[in-house]
Amino acid sequence: MNMQLSIQKATEVNQALYELLLLADPSKEIVDEYLVRGECYEAWIGSELAGVYVLLKSRPQTVEIVNIAVKESMQNKGIGRQMIHDAMIKAKQMRAATIEIGTGNSSIGQLALYQKCGFRLRAIDHDFFVRHYEEVIFENGIQCRDMVRLSADI
Ligand code: COA
Repeated sequence: MNMQLSIQKATEVNQALYELLLLADPSKEIVDEYLVRGECYEAWIGSELAGVYVLLKSRPQTVEIVNIAVKESMQNKGIGRQMIHDAMIKAKQMRAATIEIGTGNSSIGQLALYQKCGFRLRAIDHDFFVRHYEEVIFENGIQCRDMVRLSADI
């Protein structure tokens, strides 16, 4: 099912947008840091804010999706997949050759989705979440400790 999405650059970071950004990243401090340096896009279905993603030029010819989130009630309807596709087009327009994304070792659904979108596993940053997040994170019965880095040629 392809939902009719309208994706546009965010003009202000309001409460609704923050709530979405914090779904993907529990650290407000880290979110604030990449909002300053990156470009934030919002995905709308009619008048409803359905999702958000943030792109950051991380290295020459490399763009990273540093945050991606879909409103909880609208997840698993293909919106995340559409936003990743859109992010790939935008990264290409930014003259990047590679797009990257990182997720936790415990984020099984995300690891599935990103690979379905063409990303390959590239590197593991061991204990990333232990070092950078104060709280202990558990998902799918697995402690989130390592950052799995994925990338795709675009
Ligand atoms: N095994 C296999 N496939 C799985 C899976 C699993 N355990 N869990 C999910 N998937 C697949 C689905 O089958 C679907 O694939 P399909 O398109 O082939 O059917 C895909 O993953 C989900 O796609 P989609 O519906 O486009 O995802 P979404 O709109 O729910 O968005 C997220 C995905 C991750 C952005 C969304 O769930 C979200 O906001 N989560 C909370 C925030 C978050 O974790 N952000 C990412 C941080 S790294």
